Amino acid sequence: MPVVVPGADPAGLPAPAWLLQSLSVFTLILHLLAMNLLVGGTALLALNLRRRSDNEFHYLLSKRLSKALPTTMAMTITLGIAPLLFVQALYGQAFYTSSALMAWPWLAIILLLLVAYYGLYLAQFRPDWLGAGAEPVAWVSALALLVIGFLFTNNASLMLLPPKWSSMYAQSAAGLHLNWSDSTLLPRYLHFLAPSFAVTGLGVMLLGVAYRRAEPDWAEQAQKYGAKWFVGATLVQMAVGLWFLFSLPDSVRQMFLGGSLPDTAILWIGVFVAVGAVGAASRSAWQAAALILVTISLMVVARHRVREWMLRPHLDVSALPVNPQWGMFVIFAALLVIGLVVVGWMVWQFVRAGPFAAPGGDDLLTE
Ligand code: HEM
Repeated sequence: MPVVVPGADPAGLPAPAWLLQSLSVFTLILHLLAMNLLVGGTALLALNLRRRSDNEFHYLLSKRLSKALPTTMAMTITLGIAPLLFVQALYGQAFYTSSALMAWPWLAIILLLLVAYYGLYLAQFRPDWLGAGAEPVAWVSALALLVIGFLFTNNASLMLLPPKWSSMYAQSAAGLHLNWSDSTLLPRYLHFLAPSFAVTGLGVMLLGVAYRRAEPDWAEQAQKYGAKWFVGATLVQMAVGLWFLFSLPDSVRQMFLGGSLPDTAILWIGVFVAVGAVGAASRSAWQAAALILVTISLMVVARHRVREWMLRPHLDVSALPVNPQWGMFVIFAALLVIGLVVVGWMVWQFVRAGPFAAPGGDDLLTE
């Protein structure tokens, strides 16, 4: 069947492709960080709820996680909007096509988001009312989030396969396709899942650091518990990453194995820094966090390069017409900077306000 790619938007790109691509990578890093904390945190909440009745550490951790998760969910969604706008503007020809092929599962994301959100709110505000039901509710939220992530990976991988689109559409126009036949689907999905537990493990370690003075025993346990998740999930991620690399088409894989020097450097420096982060975890949670941030950023750039490479024969964004709308762009950039400064300030105040500084001063994370 011939490869058919829908025509480009005649309005053109609202800013040069390189600028939109850089912002799409930057904002996706932020989205994925929040998403990692949300997915890993919700699964950990469910696991800790199971053990809360016989163990003070798990009881307090589940309480603290349940308080943080609804905000993390709001951040994940809000931080997803910017990269969504960029992917639509840059790769709309591919992204709308894959979204139409999987229309119903794609639309189901809204429903799944509502289910996950309600579950997290119930766990935060109605723990007594839920009683023993809190654990199943947390699992339902975790499952909904895992399915959402799976649907995102379906769309992100299907949009890279223009040769499949026509035959899928000819097979059925019902909008019920998923990208099952793609050998990258599962490793790609797990490549997003494993870091969720690693990043959440780091988050728990940092929570331990914050409670060091107020609750030294709890803090020590939190650091050990978080480190276990961080190190374990990062090691799993190394295996999953290799699986993902070898599931990619030959030409793309070669690019990361010496075929293209910058791409090879991006991938392997990322892996090397992750090994450094595992080593740093026993010394300092902050050091490990800074190193893992470098790894995640490099991996998102590598992910972007895979997309460019796979779409280039069918869709070259650098050849799209540009019709700059600088006024809009300046408003976006200014709001982005203001938003990031406000969030940074809020996190700073949260840490500085000292809910963790003295016993009984747990006012922001009221027990
Ligand atoms: C709250 C639950 C969510 C989860 C668990 C989640 C998970 C994910 C995952 C796993 C990916 C990577 C897909 C891949 O490249 O294989 C991803 C990418 C992405 N997500 Fe989310 N996401 C969530 C919500 C959202 C929402 C609500 C939005 C939009 C408002 C959004 C926007 C995006 C965008 C734009 C991408 C990148 C797509 C691309 O560049 O190909 N996400 N998300």
